[in-house]
Amino acid sequence: MCGIFAYLNYRVPRTRKEIFETLVKGLQRLEYRGYDSAGIAVDGPSKNTDINSNNICLIKKKGKVKALDEELYKKDSLDLDEKLCTHIGLAHTRWATHGEPSALNSHPHRSDKHNEFVVIHNGIITNYKELKKYLITKGYDFESETDTEVIPKLIKYVYDNRESDITFSTLVERVIQQLEGAFALVFKSRHFPGEAVSTRRGSPLLIGVRSEHELSTEHIPVQYKNAHFMEINSHNSSDCSNTMGDDKAVEYYFASDASAIIEHTNKVLYLEDDDIAVVTGGELSIHRMSRQAGEDPVRAIQTLQMELQQIMKGNFDAFMQKEIFEQPESVVNTMRGRICFDSNTVILGGLKDHLKEIKRCRRLIVIGCGTSFHAAVATRQILEELTELPVMVELASDFLDRNTPIFRDDVTFFISQSGETADTLMALRYCKDHGALTVGITNTVGSTICRETVCGVHINAGPEIGVASTKAYTSQFVSLIMFGLMMSEDRLSLQNRRLEIINGLRMLPDQIKTVLSLDEKIKAIASELYQQRSLLVMGRGYNYATCLEGALKIKEITYMHSEGILAGELKHGPLALIDKHMPVIMVIMRDACYIKCQNALQQVTARSGRPIILCCQDDPEVTKNAYQTIELPHAVDCLQGILTVIPLQLLSFHLAVLRGYDVDCPRNLAKSVTVE
Ligand code: F6R
Repeated sequence: MCGIFAYLNYRVPRTRKEIFETLVKGLQRLEYRGYDSAGIAVDGPSKNTDINSNNICLIKKKGKVKALDEELYKKDSLDLDEKLCTHIGLAHTRWATHGEPSALNSHPHRSDKHNEFVVIHNGIITNYKELKKYLITKGYDFESETDTEVIPKLIKYVYDNRESDITFSTLVERVIQQLEGAFALVFKSRHFPGEAVSTRRGSPLLIGVRSEHELSTEHIPVQYKNAHFMEINSHNSSDCSNTMGDDKAVEYYFASDASAIIEHTNKVLYLEDDDIAVVTGGELSIHRMSRQAGEDPVRAIQTLQMELQQIMKGNFDAFMQKEIFEQPESVVNTMRGRICFDSNTVILGGLKDHLKEIKRCRRLIVIGCGTSFHAAVATRQILEELTELPVMVELASDFLDRNTPIFRDDVTFFISQSGETADTLMALRYCKDHGALTVGITNTVGSTICRETVCGVHINAGPEIGVASTKAYTSQFVSLIMFGLMMSEDRLSLQNRRLEIINGLRMLPDQIKTVLSLDEKIKAIASELYQQRSLLVMGRGYNYATCLEGALKIKEITYMHSEGILAGELKHGPLALIDKHMPVIMVIMRDACYIKCQNALQQVTARSGRPIILCCQDDPEVTKNAYQTIELPHAVDCLQGILTVIPLQLLSFHLAVLRGYDVDCPRNLAKSVTVE
């Protein structure tokens, strides 16, 4: 949902070419967040100046970051070898919300034709129409259709109407006081050379810090080391100042997420809502927009555990493919240190202090969007069985639309890979306001959902870059199962069941490898199907979620129509779609729904349907009625969905490749949906 990246070098000489490269690399890492246009702002040649010696140049291009990258080197007026000792570059990759994808609508946006103030924005300004109307009456001209453009216009308006000297951060503070909606912003201005101001409300923003000392000696300066252990109180205006003694040369990286920063530094600081971070004279300070009584915000420089390797494609053609094949390891990482296979115990550190409270609750409500919602559907039945509590699963947007009644004795779970999904976040705030206990299940440390929930589980799947979620789904699935196991540890009647599941989890990584070894077969099936317009996926019970998730994968990256159908509903409507031309995938595993699924199979074959069946190894009964089969290892019923979804992940990948689409960047979508 747009990626923002900014780079500030202070007393670190960099050529313009190096700055371009840093900005483009940052955008490439964030491209999964949006990729319909991209742009940068850098200092232009000083000889062309007409206000002062700081001439800001904007370069924007419709299309992916690659198109912008090519454009950058076409500007003859920009000397690529010119060394810029202290410089701020802004960069943005867009996912259009207001205004079509075009160079004009892409960021950075500017205050006026002299580019006095420029800004990059991730989020949505909901009151932009009122602001725009007002600014137009004051004589400000707008050039784009975006909501964002009111921001640079507004800052210029405040600047033009200042009564005395004003700092850049005060200007930004005055601007954000007028803004409604969600934003992460970084500003640059001709009037404040060498200064960058950033702020956020509702959209993520973090700042990476790399000192000269670190650059030259690979040594972490002492003050950062301390900062890592020491919480920095940013309540005072002098707060968080990184006084670095003689070690002044420094580089700052502002980004929507850590993947854009990790190759430069692992020292980062996450901004909170209404923080205003200013770099001036090479020093970073953080202020609060408004200080409420009793508020005592703390910020710490954290050390990222992420490795660059984790966000590279390696030998794979696409991130999605890499992430599908990572699943034998990612599920192990989800379980690592949490399941003791010797004592059959499960401890989720982030939840153990709240276990008593959770056990006393009236019901569990599991909330998410898209794939994360499907993880809730997949585990609902086993959670009901292991916790002996009613479990509701909710799509965040619908949950909010209904103003769902929530009580103090409800426990609410928020499932989100990114930890930033706006609908899920709104649902979280709603539940918090109603006094329910909030639990986050996220894959992104430091994300907003992670920080705003009372407790939670980090799924440890590793960075997921492909827009289509794969390994996060299986790790969310495993995390929720582990939660059920932890809840049922003292239930005597459930001990055999628990043991069966824990054993099943132990076997899971090897079974996933077996499923992945079917890749060639699945590719062959894809080559038969890729020209079809529709693809139905049918199943029930524990595998219904696989049908929903498989159909979502297929539609989002292949653009084929696909529907996940509950086999029990077949005769209530979908059966009308079946004939010999309609491709149908059926999931028929040996579980409590086996016989019912066979009935559905009969109904399909009786209408000349030619089903491709996901079934257990050695199942002649099912195989004889199949057009094709994909035979999978048998798992405990509640874990089977992890194995059945993987062939559909692989199938969607191959279909998309055969149809000639960019698997990692499906049209109209973005990885992190930070707008409602
Ligand atoms: C589909 C997909 C989306 C996300 C959804 C929620 O492949 O990735 O459906 O699952 O946008 O995102 P998170 O999990 O980040 O809250």
